[in-house]
Amino acid sequence: MSGEFPVDQILRGECIETMKTLPDGSVDCIFADPPYNLQLRGELRRPDETVVDGVDDDWDKFADYATYDNFTREWLSEARRILHKDGTIWVIGSYHNVFRLGAIMQDLGFWILNDIVWRKSNPMPNFRGRRFTNAHETLIWAARGPQSKYRFNYQAMKALNDDLQMRSDWYLPLCTGNERLKNEHGLKLHPTQKPESLLHRVLVASTNANDVVLDPFCGSGTTPAMAKRLGRHYIAIERHPDYVKAARERVAGEERLTSEQLATTPAKREMPRIPFGSFVETGILPAGTLLYDRQKRLKATVTPDGTLVSGNQRGSIHKLGAMLTNAPSCNGWTFWYFERDGQYVQIDVLRQEGQALRNVG
Ligand SMILES: C[S@@+](CC[C@H](N)C(=O)[O-])C[C@H]1O[C@@H](n2cnc3c(N)ncnc32)[C@H](O)[C@@H]1O
Repeated sequence: MSGEFPVDQILRGECIETMKTLPDGSVDCIFADPPYNLQLRGELRRPDETVVDGVDDDWDKFADYATYDNFTREWLSEARRILHKDGTIWVIGSYHNVFRLGAIMQDLGFWILNDIVWRKSNPMPNFRGRRFTNAHETLIWAARGPQSKYRFNYQAMKALNDDLQMRSDWYLPLCTGNERLKNEHGLKLHPTQKPESLLHRVLVASTNANDVVLDPFCGSGTTPAMAKRLGRHYIAIERHPDYVKAARERVAGEERLTSEQLATTPAKREMPRIPFGSFVETGILPAGTLLYDRQKRLKATVTPDGTLVSGNQRGSIHKLGAMLTNAPSCNGWTFWYFERDGQYVQIDVLRQEGQALRNVG
């Protein structure tokens, strides 16, 4: 490497060695899907001894737990060094390795924020019937340390979940169908290709457009592909030449969303603090404008002091929304819509566009 920061590149090499060439605090987020160190005993084999959901590759094999732990400690130490002080790391694992990963992360000073259970909607069956079907994997999400002012896009996660708080159990399918990369024989190119939906949620939850995301175990390139699609930057490391080639081709085929397409729900504290009345005063929503609920069953008129009137009821955007729906409370910004260029637009869009700030300020 020339010493330049290798942004938007998939680097071929050993992850520890390669991470050593990256500067301290230089990446905003890390997603790591390390070797699982699967012990290929009976339960992971079909009756014909072929491997279920098959990781039977050399990259997954370690002589013993101590060797695996030493490797884990070394790569996680490098990851922590290059992670920004306010950055977060996601590490995914199964029951074979996740407890070892979690303990080592805590020993190194990472601050665990959540353990996410990725519940698979289409898990592999348990062929021998001597244990429960293993239907989930665990993602450990941790900040660099307890003092990190880490990013969590709470509002975006809530929006993604039909306006309910996003929970720590994620129900997502395995990577199948067209998404699954195939080799020249039409077989799975990579045994543990992760679904794009998983990376979508991880990246939207914990990064912003233009952040730099590192994946030290790139495999088929799910992380860099999704980072590019979502307008993030990436650095990915992979030692297997076939996977490097496939990942580079995959990422080259991805389109970056435009900044307009990328605008997700800002956090409340990032929302300009603008009273509804300022949209009335500045003539953006002048007195007399009609507002509607989403289904257009309810209607209210904007008055000169910024309150709304509907029949004989009057109140703020929040109060009237609550009164008309018999709800204890209502977020008027997301409840009311107005008509603009033939379309019904939520009034919250005005805050996001910061129109009043520009006009008033
Ligand atoms: C579990 S897979 C990652 C799969 C990836 N998340 C995806 O969606 O395709 C782990 C990958 O790490 C690679 N790998 C294992 N040990 C490595 C090391 N020491 N340095 C770099 N890559 C390594 C393996 O070749 C394998 O492709």
